[in-house]
Amino acid sequence: MSLPLLVVGNWKMHGLRESRAELEAVMAGAPGEVRAMICPPATLVAAFAAAAGGGLEIGGQDCHANPSGAHTGDVSAEMLADAGAVAVIVGHSERRIDHGETDMVVAAKRAAAHRAGLLPILCVGETEAERDAGQAEPVVRRQLAAALGPAPNALAVAYEPVWAIGTGRVPELADIAAMHAAIRAELIRLWGSTGAEPPILYGGSVKPGNAAEIFATEGVGGALVGGASLRGADFLGILRAAAARA
Ligand code: PGA
Repeated sequence: MSLPLLVVGNWKMHGLRESRAELEAVMAGAPGEVRAMICPPATLVAAFAAAAGGGLEIGGQDCHANPSGAHTGDVSAEMLADAGAVAVIVGHSERRIDHGETDMVVAAKRAAAHRAGLLPILCVGETEAERDAGQAEPVVRRQLAAALGPAPNALAVAYEPVWAIGTGRVPELADIAAMHAAIRAELIRLWGSTGAEPPILYGGSVKPGNAAEIFATEGVGGALVGGASLRGADFLGILRAAAARA
């Protein structure tokens, strides 16, 4: 039996306390056959984790590599775990681009997630220029190898082509399948047979209207959803598409 699909909503820098209504809509309608998670901004993690029960999990969007210290404005993986998060996104392209996060920084954050007992959702993905230059797979393999330690550990990978994020553009399904196969091969090269286990999510302009065909694509183990996770009704549409594949 295959694992349930993992569908993660990444709210980015959106959401106030009143947004709890969207959380409640998702909680009320989430199908049981899917592993559903919302990653709200850090200000909402504790309240959402306290409110969410019944199958909907809460994660963070980023963490500092250290457990504590003089790092004004940062939040550690331990703090997210203490607030009730079960996972944290690391290496999102918006962090890599906006905050200059290198592969080494991402590796340290991935290790911090493990130290705190969180599931790291490791984002990888090429820019449009890298794809046009035929470098998409080498870039993604490099990002993976740099971020993962030699010892297998709990992990989800999110393949997010940078040019597909928030643009409404989605790769050809065959290209998604090819990249997911390349990621799986790299995980097995790094971790041996355990590399067959981590779910590989697709992210980038996933909507209720295209979710079914993405979930039906070979190797896709779930989705990381930005814009379409902000409205409960849209996110539920995606969760239902995931449940239909289960
Ligand atoms: P999008 O964002 O669904 O709005 O394209 C995805 C992401 O950045 O995780």
